[in-house]
Amino acid sequence: MNYDEIIGKTAHSIPPSGIRRFFGIVEEDPDAISLGVGEPDFVTPWEIRDAAIKSLQKGYTAYTSNSGLKRLREEISEYLFSRFNAKYSPDEVMVTIGASEAIDLSLRALLNAGEEVLVPDPSYVSYCPAIALAGGVAVPVACSPENGLKPTPQAVEAAITKKTKAVILPYPNNPTGAVLNKAELEAICAVIKKHNLIAISDEIYAELTYSGRHVSVAALDGMAERTVLISGFSKAFAMTGWRVGYVCAPAEILGAMLKIHQYTIMCAPTMSQYAALAALVTGKESGFAAVEEMRDKYDMRRRFVVNAFNEMGLQCSEPSGAFYAFPSVKSLGLTGEQFAEQLLREKHVAVVPGDAFGAAGKEHVRCSYATGMAQLSEAMKRIGEFVASRK
Ligand SMILES: Cc1ncc(COP(=O)(O)O)c(C=O)c1O
Repeated sequence: MNYDEIIGKTAHSIPPSGIRRFFGIVEEDPDAISLGVGEPDFVTPWEIRDAAIKSLQKGYTAYTSNSGLKRLREEISEYLFSRFNAKYSPDEVMVTIGASEAIDLSLRALLNAGEEVLVPDPSYVSYCPAIALAGGVAVPVACSPENGLKPTPQAVEAAITKKTKAVILPYPNNPTGAVLNKAELEAICAVIKKHNLIAISDEIYAELTYSGRHVSVAALDGMAERTVLISGFSKAFAMTGWRVGYVCAPAEILGAMLKIHQYTIMCAPTMSQYAALAALVTGKESGFAAVEEMRDKYDMRRRFVVNAFNEMGLQCSEPSGAFYAFPSVKSLGLTGEQFAEQLLREKHVAVVPGDAFGAAGKEHVRCSYATGMAQLSEAMKRIGEFVASRK
């Protein structure tokens, strides 16, 4: 059988995720330390796990409504308003299988064949494939280190054509850790409004910002009606394996997404929805103490990692959010890909080549600091030795 001809052209042409590339090698190497995964090393707080166990004990094992438990949607609505001033009624909230499903749904609901979506480059690996799978065309907007790896309003406007439908705003950013402040977001949103586009704002790292409170695109003047807000529980509450997230949008857009979700998913896992509900209810009661505690630990590791990179002579701008450092390896005369391959082979430390996140990341590597301090300091020691050997 010639499977190349059997498999649909779009699925055939999208590349596998560059993040997972080295996983096989890492799993088989007992000496390897992975800074590759974008996943909290913390276990989900006990009260959240306990709520899921209790939901099972009570026999809550059936489907929920397609949009998710009403109580959960009410809590999400309240949470978004109290934490980030984003105003959504529970009817404008849908619970999804992680932010991942929300990204896919928003693109499939919005795009007609051939319509373009602007994607800051570098950014999270799933946007471009999801755009292609929805029949659209991803248009990268390069973000230069001179501008703190952030898109400028001029660069966004220059990339707009008659076919442009939406702009992805992925802040805090994976892989760069860049955060856009209110004025920077407003300047880009002015372009979005001027050209009558939709903002798809992936705010999954909203709780992980290290200088000031996260600014939600949905809370900016005149943006709620043209914003699809995506978020979830994976990062802030250390709940990656529970597969639960959510999307908020004006009722008409959400209705279109709900149809796709109904036919393809039915509902997010019931047990996970009860866990997510507990995350918000217990979080509210404690002032989100568990979230703040994890964030403080990430912050400590962040400063350690950034200092270590700068001390070994690799330029690394300070990430203001998420849990990634994105140093440049250009000074060593290596591409990110070469650096990652050689580092893994010689020092058994896995990092991700920056071009997995777009061409603009070619001279960088992404290092996740969602790893315990002992592992992190050993990894930075080995990276330091590797860098020294290349000078
Ligand atoms: C920017 C960004 N968006 C979405 C996701 C997917 O998150 P979830 O686990 O909620 O599907 C990730 C995961 O790494 C991410 O980094």
